Amino acid sequence: MKSIAIFASGTGSNAQNIITYFKNNPDIYVNCVYSNKENAPVLHKAQQLGVPSLTFNKENFYNSDLILETLKNQNPNIIVLAGFLWKFPEKIINAFSGKIINIHPALLPKFGGKGMYGMNVHKAVVANKETHSGITIHHVTKNYDEGATIFQEKVALSDTDTAADVAKKIHNLEAKHFPKIIEDVILNKI
Ligand code: GAR
Repeated sequence: MKSIAIFASGTGSNAQNIITYFKNNPDIYVNCVYSNKENAPVLHKAQQLGVPSLTFNKENFYNSDLILETLKNQNPNIIVLAGFLWKFPEKIINAFSGKIINIHPALLPKFGGKGMYGMNVHKAVVANKETHSGITIHHVTKNYDEGATIFQEKVALSDTDTAADVAKKIHNLEAKHFPKIIEDVILNKI
């Protein structure tokens, strides 16, 4: 069996889609949802879908080996950041080199970097009068949004689209592609 660890900070629509996508797969499963927020809706979604979860604080994450050791014990084939907003610690990146991927709600290298997450990204895209936005799935390195790109897909925007409209288009793209790309990465197809 191959397993997926998901890190998520908020709503968890991506986590939900990923868990659901692999639910009936006999070879791949989501073994844990990790969150830095004790009351994040993603935790409720994980519970409803029967996936264990673990929450942690800054101290556990950055100044202790708790999460590193837990991950080493679980030994997931891939670590997926699905709306996870904290910088990933270098010691985990080094221990799971090449096995950590993130989804970013824009066409990197545009609209990436510190502070560029969720609605901040979509507001910036609208303010910049972009004709397209999209998603980028990429490897995680010690710098925000800088790892090698695995997959990108774009979507056209209209000049009347609000940031909320862009968010909806992006979430649709994420739902369509992210679980399948995770599967392809696990199976070494890409
Ligand atoms: C997603 O759109 C994801 O791409 C974005 O946060 C949202 C989380 O939604 N991630 C980032 O901005 C990372 N820089 P969700 O909690 O409903 O999956």
